[in-house]
Amino acid sequence: MRTNVFLSVVLTILCLNASAQKTATADVSSDSKLTVSRFIYGQFAEHLGHGIYGGFWVDQSLPVEKQDRIRLDVVNALKKIKIPDLRWPGGCFADEYHWRDGIGPREQRPKMVNTNWGNVTDDNSFGTHEFLELCKLIGCEPYIAGNVGSGTVEEMSKWIEYLNLDGESTMTQLRKQNGHPEPYKVTFWGVGNESWGCGGNMTPGFYADQYKRYATYARNYPGARLKKIASGPNADDYNWTEVCMKNIGTGMWGLSLHYYTIPTGNWEKKGSATSFDEREYFSTMVNSLKMEELINKHSAIMDKYDPEKRVALVVDEWGVWTDVEPGTNPGFLYQQNSLRDALIAATNLNIFNNHCDRVKMANLAQTVNVLQSLILTDKDKMLLTPTYHIFDLYKVHQDAKYLPVKLNTPDYEFDGKKVPAVNISASQDSSGKIHVSLVNLDPHNSIAVSTNLDGLKWNKVSGQILTSANLTDVNTFQQPDKVRIANFNGAKNDGRKLVIDLPAKSVVTLELN
Ligand code: AHR
Repeated sequence: MRTNVFLSVVLTILCLNASAQKTATADVSSDSKLTVSRFIYGQFAEHLGHGIYGGFWVDQSLPVEKQDRIRLDVVNALKKIKIPDLRWPGGCFADEYHWRDGIGPREQRPKMVNTNWGNVTDDNSFGTHEFLELCKLIGCEPYIAGNVGSGTVEEMSKWIEYLNLDGESTMTQLRKQNGHPEPYKVTFWGVGNESWGCGGNMTPGFYADQYKRYATYARNYPGARLKKIASGPNADDYNWTEVCMKNIGTGMWGLSLHYYTIPTGNWEKKGSATSFDEREYFSTMVNSLKMEELINKHSAIMDKYDPEKRVALVVDEWGVWTDVEPGTNPGFLYQQNSLRDALIAATNLNIFNNHCDRVKMANLAQTVNVLQSLILTDKDKMLLTPTYHIFDLYKVHQDAKYLPVKLNTPDYEFDGKKVPAVNISASQDSSGKIHVSLVNLDPHNSIAVSTNLDGLKWNKVSGQILTSANLTDVNTFQQPDKVRIANFNGAKNDGRKLVIDLPAKSVVTLELN
């Protein structure tokens, strides 16, 4: 009798433990010929708030190291995470930007009012040459969005000639006069931005025709074959994709997709960047994970017209968009960045990596001081956000061989609703090292992930983790390292499998060699 009681107590304890420890399995395969394009790790910088002015481009008098007026602390931070491209000048701003206003002697440049973003005066001191100098310093490719909404075919055509022609013309003389005899050879070229909205409120059929007109005169000069990117759908506007694919087809290098994570799902009251409860965290994750569905559905439409996947899906605006920080200009879109936002970044990057057959570029909105930034600045001070650290952890996937993963994950449940707790992606770099990035969205439970890597050679595992005590934790100018990368010792080679103890609300990148 006593033995029975003892046994049932032991069994109860075992059962309680078993139900407490959540488990997942992952099968990583080498069976793929795909590459994770480095351009999935791209960035976006618009003339908006303190993104350009005060972010990249500062007053001569500011006591930071600069080249011309470009701040080098920001440049060096971006170099470290190897950002592959920078999209500019917008955004909505692109369709009211007239490039000729931003060249020549700065004191003679006309001033304009930025009607999209706070009606502030832009003195055009940061223009084409300054942007291309910035890209050169960072070591990234420029991606320029041309003006279709309020510009002309001639204006866009001449901009490309000014940038890329290596020959004699009025445009090239002007470029030489402005200090750059060599052509810049810019290749990523956006034909408008959000043409369904701030870029001209067009219908997809009208836009497709406009695209063809503008694209015809967007010339390929020697050594600078353009990768033309059409203004694509707003989130789940599948009809836009259908019409563009039908009418433009492979006449474009890429079709853009814009989708922002709105924590509450309500554009009128998006939710705070720093103060949210678990209910709002959960809805943020539901909204963020929608990216997967959007990519699947837009890709399926693209597959109909382009089964060989020659046209890229370019997610050239993505990230979390919250209410602005209290007391800041509502038109400047300045928001803090928390551990939650790092989980969003990692989850989206996993989604993009896993769709690298179609997603060849993605640009986070927006690099400095705007929306889900990598960097925040305050005069001469600068801090790296939790999102920056994700791009640091994930840079190992750039241009690596894609390794497909079959994942079996428990759910993270809240109030009767569920999302997959774990998401993952993997790749193998040119030296043979395998990198596996895992996210645990469950804020309460660690998850034991048992991973098979049959057919892949490895012995040792090391790793790094990003987590913090609270989902709302942020880096501030007073405490810039509150959320930071640490070494991770929770993964081991158990002989046949890689076994990972993945902490709650964390992102881990492992290196196997
Ligand atoms: O990133 C902020 C804005 O969001 C961009 O200017 C626009 O393209 C989008 O609506």
